[in-house]
Amino acid sequence: MINFDFHKYVSNFVKKEDKVEYLTKAREIKARFIEGDLKYWNSLESFIPSKELKKIVNMTDYIKSNCNVFVVIGIGGSYMGSKAVIEALSPMYNRKDPEVIFMGTNLCSEEYHETLDYIRDKEVIVNVISKSGTTLEPSIAFDLVLDLMKEKYSEEELKNRIIITTDPEKGDLRKLADLKGYVTFDVPRNIGGRFSCLTPVGLLPMAVAGIDIIELIKGAKVSYERVDRAIEYAVIRDVLYRKGKVIESFTVYNPKLYYFTEWLKQLFAETQGKNNQGILPISCVNTRDLHSLGQFLQEGHSIIFETVIGIDKDKMVTLDKYDMELNSLNKIALDKVGLAHSNGSTPSNIITIDEKNEGTIGELIHFFILAAIVGALLLDMNPFDQPGVEEYKKLINEELD
Ligand code: PA5
Repeated sequence: MINFDFHKYVSNFVKKEDKVEYLTKAREIKARFIEGDLKYWNSLESFIPSKELKKIVNMTDYIKSNCNVFVVIGIGGSYMGSKAVIEALSPMYNRKDPEVIFMGTNLCSEEYHETLDYIRDKEVIVNVISKSGTTLEPSIAFDLVLDLMKEKYSEEELKNRIIITTDPEKGDLRKLADLKGYVTFDVPRNIGGRFSCLTPVGLLPMAVAGIDIIELIKGAKVSYERVDRAIEYAVIRDVLYRKGKVIESFTVYNPKLYYFTEWLKQLFAETQGKNNQGILPISCVNTRDLHSLGQFLQEGHSIIFETVIGIDKDKMVTLDKYDMELNSLNKIALDKVGLAHSNGSTPSNIITIDEKNEGTIGELIHFFILAAIVGALLLDMNPFDQPGVEEYKKLINEELD
């Protein structure tokens, strides 16, 4: 379960009367999620039809017994969600086979060189993920991995080792998969990259990494009943934004949630950073960043607010000297930092999960997806496009042509 304590450290900044003007708009948005054009976003079948889920489960068994490296190729929304969940829920050391590695997130030759060398002598299965099927970075990575795989496997064997996740009908990857007979998964038509974590885009890599995706989906379902909380959070963000808080720090106190904050940054930046508007998302991993960005949050230019994700119960580490659990100390730090920041000029929304597991992470994912959509609607913008991202893709493709 998630507990939302939005008001504890924002009440100095967001008063009841600030929210009054949102009442009608919030009611209208809620109605769109419950019965209107946004209902799609509040239904499990839209993200992952049960037939597709079964296919993922079967494919996962196959992958686990037929490779020791599972290479996930994709960029932006095509990899960020699965990376976030895998890092949040996997052990730090000695992860089980197959190892899940990510490629296609940059054009850095050193990284490619080392990764290709690393996988050369391993049994490899690759999952290429691109909704458009045309993005440069994953396409380069796939070419390079395919060349390497062709040295090891026959055309027939490649059909068992290449999995394509892409648009159900369009794009170069779809054409290639049809031509070569590769296994495919569909990215649902209406769900863009950054929202696709709960579709085959995110779920297959997660399942291969040992994440219980059924529990993750159950967690997301809990959030379906609670659109109100996402709307409330979005309203608080909007009030703060209109009061000059143009930067939001997603702050965590468990380093395993670092990539979760990266996913949040992508989700909110691409959904709301348009038309010369939007809140710039940044992240802090505390208590580490209290010794760097913390200074700015406490005393710097007062343009920041925080959304803090805390964890109630964590693994036991006893501190004999203080006669307390380490996680209790971490929680004290979270609380006192929230107090200190809000005594300064940085309000903190506090969100606490009772423990970090598939259920709570699934719930958080769906909650933030809804909140990002609502945030864009409050700014009167289309939540579902990302024209800025398309712009650089277009320019680079023109140059290559
Ligand atoms: O959220 C988005 O839509 C983007 O970040 C895309 O996921 C990213 O640009 C990759 O696009 P594609 O999946 O088409 O390769």
